[in-house]
Amino acid sequence: MAARHPVFALTYDLLAPGMDAAGAGEHRRRLLAGLSGRVVEVGAGPGRNFSWYPPEVRQVVAVEPEPYLRRRALHAAGQSLVSVDVVDGVAEALPVADGWADTVVFALVLCSVADPDRALAEARRVVRPGGALRFYEHVAADSPGWRRAQQIADRVWPRVAGGCHTHRDPVATIRRAGFHVDTLDRFAFPPGRGAGLVSTHVLGSARRDPDGVTGPPGTHATEAGTQVD
Ligand SMILES: C[S@@+](CC[C@H](N)C(=O)[O-])C[C@H]1O[C@@H](n2cnc3c(N)ncnc32)[C@H](O)[C@@H]1O
Repeated sequence: MAARHPVFALTYDLLAPGMDAAGAGEHRRRLLAGLSGRVVEVGAGPGRNFSWYPPEVRQVVAVEPEPYLRRRALHAAGQSLVSVDVVDGVAEALPVADGWADTVVFALVLCSVADPDRALAEARRVVRPGGALRFYEHVAADSPGWRRAQQIADRVWPRVAGGCHTHRDPVATIRRAGFHVDTLDRFAFPPGRGAGLVSTHVLGSARRDPDGVTGPPGTHATEAGTQVD
């Protein structure tokens, strides 16, 4: 569905185990702790999250557009203790019915999607009222100097890193979509290295309102649901 990124896909697949051993695995554990029921994982890559889903998770739909990574995810799904369906698709048009999911998961993916606002609108559509969003992302740095460096890097970095942008603010995007952020941890990773192009991370959870009618700013509730004004 999305463009192929064979070099990035192979590189990421090779580097991801080392990143997980260096601490990203622990972030994945925290990201997914306590989940249950039905989960949509957006941009699942090679499936590095699958082994961290708790047994209370009944079904995962793992959406992955890149063909090589999707094949790797299929392999990981075959070894997973929870049921994982790996499907082709993009964040901006999730192949999932309205309100199907108890939780939508984004891990290191909102940097890469073509349209983050559209992706969050889709997440809000597929999660049930009162359902959750879990996110683990690298974000724009705190210091003005590093932010400027990220803006410059983003002129070329997406072309060599599978569409990844370094200077994004996914938490703002999540809030703009009408999710309420419940928990938010912000930290440098790898630890002890200080600032860098992709070292500032956020890990947190957000929630869709239980009545399902409060939408993003500029929307209002009707009997048929939430409509854009
Ligand atoms: C850095 S990798 C992260 C993979 C995985 N989520 C993880 O935690 O290891 C970024 C992923 O986002 C995927 N991606 C890029 N654009 C996407 C889009 N528009 N919709 C869904 N996934 C996308 C890529 O194919 C890739 O698998």
